[in-house]
Amino acid sequence: MNKKISFIETKEYKRFAEFCDACIKYQYIGICYGLPGVGKTLSSRYYSDWDYIDQHLKPLHK
Ligand SMILES: Nc1ncnc2c1ncn2[C@@H]1O[C@H](COP(=O)(O)OP(=O)(O)OP(=O)(O)O)[C@@H](O)[C@H]1O
Ligand SMILES: [Mg+2]
Repeated sequence: MNKKISFIETKEYKRFAEFCDACIKYQYIGICYGLPGVGKTLSSRYYSDWDYIDQHLKPLHK
C-alpha cells in the first residue's frame, strides 16, 4: 500500500504560495497563522520542497 499521502494544491495553498512568492520578491518575513490542522506545516513543507532538502541535510546530522 502506498503510505505517502499526496499533497493537494488547494485554493488556500495557492494563496499561501502567492504570499511566499511575495515575501521572497520583496524580502519580507511573512507569518502564516491559522486554525490547527488547516495545512500550515504541510503547505510550508511542500512549497519549500523540504523532503528534498531534508535528504541532503541528513548526512550533516551524522
Ligand atoms: N493540501 C493538503 N493536501 C493533503 N492533505 C492535507 C493538506 N493540508 C492539510 N492536509 C491534511 O491535514 C493534516 C494537518 O495538516 P498540517 O499538519 O499541515 O496542519 P497545521 O495547520 O500545521 O496544524 P497545526 O496548527 O496543528 O500545526 C495533514 O496531516 C494532512 O493529512
Ligand atoms: Mg503545524
